[in-house]
Amino acid sequence: EHLALWGGRFKSGPSPELARLSKSTQFDWRLADDDIAGSRAHARALGRAGLLTADELQRMEDALDELQRRVDSGAFTPIEDDEDEATALERGLLQIAGDELGGKLRAGRSRNDQIAALIRMWLRRHSRIIAKMLLGLASTLIEQAEKAGRTVMPGRTHMQHAQPVLLAHQLMAHVWPLLRDVERLSDWDKRIDASPYGSGALAGNTLGLEPVAVARELGFSKVTANSIDGTASRDLVAEFSFIAAMTGVDLSRLSEEIIIWNTQEFAFVRLDDAYSTGSSIMPQKKNPDIAELARGKSGRLIGDLTGLLTTLKGLPTAYARDLQEDKEAVFDQVDTLEVLLPAFTGMVGTMVFDKERLEAEAPTGFALATDIAEWLVKNGVPFRHAHELSGACVKIAEDRGQELWDLTDENFISVFKDFLPAEKAPQVREVLSTEGSVSARNGKGGTSPLRVREQIAAAKSTIEQL
Ligand code: ARG
Repeated sequence: EHLALWGGRFKSGPSPELARLSKSTQFDWRLADDDIAGSRAHARALGRAGLLTADELQRMEDALDELQRRVDSGAFTPIEDDEDEATALERGLLQIAGDELGGKLRAGRSRNDQIAALIRMWLRRHSRIIAKMLLGLASTLIEQAEKAGRTVMPGRTHMQHAQPVLLAHQLMAHVWPLLRDVERLSDWDKRIDASPYGSGALAGNTLGLEPVAVARELGFSKVTANSIDGTASRDLVAEFSFIAAMTGVDLSRLSEEIIIWNTQEFAFVRLDDAYSTGSSIMPQKKNPDIAELARGKSGRLIGDLTGLLTTLKGLPTAYARDLQEDKEAVFDQVDTLEVLLPAFTGMVGTMVFDKERLEAEAPTGFALATDIAEWLVKNGVPFRHAHELSGACVKIAEDRGQELWDLTDENFISVFKDFLPAEKAPQVREVLSTEGSVSARNGKGGTSPLRVREQIAAAKSTIEQL
């Protein structure tokens, strides 16, 4: 039994220690469906090459159907002695088709080209699931942006009040990276859309099998151009892994913002009960666990990528067993994102902003100082001076514990006296409103309500095209 795949030149089966080390069914069994699909396509290629008669091919396909049914129902699962999913499925096929017929399927293929094809098939399928989830999250953020309307909030750099922005603008700032993650996935799909089936162990096959037809059946539009590359490269697995890690980072940055907004000090946002947790000891607590888990899980998503790249780094270019280590990294990433994204989207969709508080905080912390400087520029003052004059206004307000709009006419007149006539100076008040401030930022990509509406429309049409 131990010698199922390589009896001939061995006197004994693997030691129990080796078998334990070598075993991968505990994680690669999830490739079983793709493996059976590959076997079906391969059987047809064998038939076309004259290596299976029509009758044999029919019986082989029936046996594979039966194997699929047993896998689906759980009647067939790997046993202790199976090294990997391919070993297990071969055992299952032999049980159903018999040694004679079942033993013909392995001709012209190796587990090396097989596994390289399966990881591609599996990742492509799950990338579509993740892309759909990401588009769902992006759409949910857009709905929140639309609900926010013209609500203004403090825009921050270095976490300090910088300039007022529309809440919608801030939310949309998280939409674009997520849409780029989806774009990355669809761009990556073009590269991974090549089947290694037919590459054999490394050099190709001698049996006249048509890899193109197999590729088509497995959903690939073409075959890998080089059989060594086809079996040994994992750059495309690593590229997927980067996209997954980047997605985690994007979610983490939004999470960090939500966690801060949700603090008692900020109190910008309230999370829905169904998407928050309590404390086992402190009855008053309501915690943003989803955001924290997203922030935490970004660490493991990055770790998966780091581990995979490190595994690949020293490998000579043809199959080596190290490559088996590619799978757990990306399986973990996919599992993580597929469980995280629905919860995250639920949290985002149900959070409620305190618009009054956002509006009230928006202009504080001298956030309109740039507007004063730019008003001075519009009145002919060189920016270098305008910056200084506005800074002087901030200094007066800060010393008095006031905001910029609390300055008196005399304050403005005396600060601006070298550049503006006295009757002009107090008119600076016209820009000392958040509404004026955001509306003035009306260049493309800016935070004016008009530009944000334009931006939302552009994001929606990007989503439709993705
Ligand atoms: N289970 C292996 C993997 O996942 C494929 C088997 C190839 N093994 C071999 N000895 N050639 O990469």
